[in-house]
Amino acid sequence: TEKPTALIMIFGATGDLANRKLFPSLFNLFEKGKLDKFAVVGVARRTLSNEEFQRKVKESVKENGETGADIDEFVSKFYYHSHDVTDSSSYLALGKLAEELDNHYGLNGNRIFYLAMAPEFFGTIAEHLKKDKLTDVSGFKRLVIEKPFGHDLESAKVLNKQIRKAFSEDEIYRIDHYLGKEMVQNIEVIRFANAMFEPLWNNRYISNIQVTSSETLGVEERGRYYEKSGALRDMVQNHMLQMVSLLAMEPPIKLTTDEIRSEKVRVFRALRPVKGEEVTEYFVRGQYDKGVMNETDVPAYRQEEMVDSESNTETYVAGKLMIDNFRWAGVPFYIRTGKRMMAKSTKIVIQFKDIPMNLYYQPEKTVNPNLLVIHIQPEEGITLHLNAKKSGQGTEATPVKLNYANKGIEGLNTPEAYEKILYDSLRGDATNFTHWDEVALSWSFVDNISAVWESTKEPSFPNYASGSMGPDAADKLLEKDGFFWWPITEIDVEKC
Ligand code: BG6
Repeated sequence: TEKPTALIMIFGATGDLANRKLFPSLFNLFEKGKLDKFAVVGVARRTLSNEEFQRKVKESVKENGETGADIDEFVSKFYYHSHDVTDSSSYLALGKLAEELDNHYGLNGNRIFYLAMAPEFFGTIAEHLKKDKLTDVSGFKRLVIEKPFGHDLESAKVLNKQIRKAFSEDEIYRIDHYLGKEMVQNIEVIRFANAMFEPLWNNRYISNIQVTSSETLGVEERGRYYEKSGALRDMVQNHMLQMVSLLAMEPPIKLTTDEIRSEKVRVFRALRPVKGEEVTEYFVRGQYDKGVMNETDVPAYRQEEMVDSESNTETYVAGKLMIDNFRWAGVPFYIRTGKRMMAKSTKIVIQFKDIPMNLYYQPEKTVNPNLLVIHIQPEEGITLHLNAKKSGQGTEATPVKLNYANKGIEGLNTPEAYEKILYDSLRGDATNFTHWDEVALSWSFVDNISAVWESTKEPSFPNYASGSMGPDAADKLLEKDGFFWWPITEIDVEKC
């Protein structure tokens, strides 16, 4: 195993993400002996002593159920710097601390700058890192940056320009945490390591692909951010389009970062823009109403904290994407994502075309199409839906399922995704991070849709009850094409 050495500076160290994901993930790496020499500087506005910060880190690690005996040794490598993001003298002091730690721990001048805080400061921080010489190092320097990467193409370009002053493209690690999920990483392996799938993976044999990412949570305490974002920017621009690109890409000639990313970029380039009037034909938006979930009343989105009582922000999006290339011409990729839906589930259904002639037809009963279902979360695995002979007399076909469970049921959004992402950034593997070209192309796709949505005041939201599967219009989107959404809770062909 590679054992990276680095000083890790976490901006936003008192925030939720650091607390819930980053500290436990770092601890896991430490426990597994995947880190060589390292130290962490927590950077945030509030005043804290090193000891207070170490105590917080320790609590976060323990809350995550980690009980390793070496927690004390782990937290002893954590330092705290109380910071003002706009003040050079604060960066100079941070630089001095960094140098001391570098020497003390022998970190070879390697630095990771991890931005896990309010996005409005990303650009300013990057500019200061350069100006105040924190990026003048003898080892490697890398910027790890959380979403959102801009609010639209224009703001993403501005941000990119700012961070490119201090870091080159290959030093920038833009996080899409879905790319750290085990089964999202598995998409390529399922496709490219199995002789039986790749020959069928095209418009001759696949009729449509459905990608669902439903959540049960509402907007929680993020109303302020979400009001300006909505599901399109929050989930579609990044996670949903990333999954589509992995499903649609051509096999890379090698498994290198550049080869994989350039195949993904080609998918984004082939993505047919949806503009103007087509937006209403191809995309559906929704907003959750009150409802009952887990036998508890939950409020409508418009009643959530920091949300306008007449808000038109969408908490649900369904869309039909077309990829105009030889492989995918004519195959719709349907996507849907929403908050306060019936179940927390991310699934991909690849629906194969019907057999050329149905020998087993019986009145009111047709042979089911073959499905390959990739279960991303909460359960991880794949299911292949086939047809077989019904036992007994006669030749009736009946649906059967082949299941592969990758692991048992797991916690959602587990630190493992972050553990992998952190480790990749430490060892310098940017494959599972998004390249600027992907970000730019996905924003321009999404911008066309939001432009239409923002200029029409038509929604009289809400249009789906909490605990449901979203607005009815999302079903019509597929019905028009002769398809339907395969139910996510249990994709069970017998029941359809
Ligand atoms: C984040 C979004 O990127 O992804 C959240 O900002 C969303 O709104 C989350 O809840 C979903 O991630 P996961 O891993 O729980 O599916």
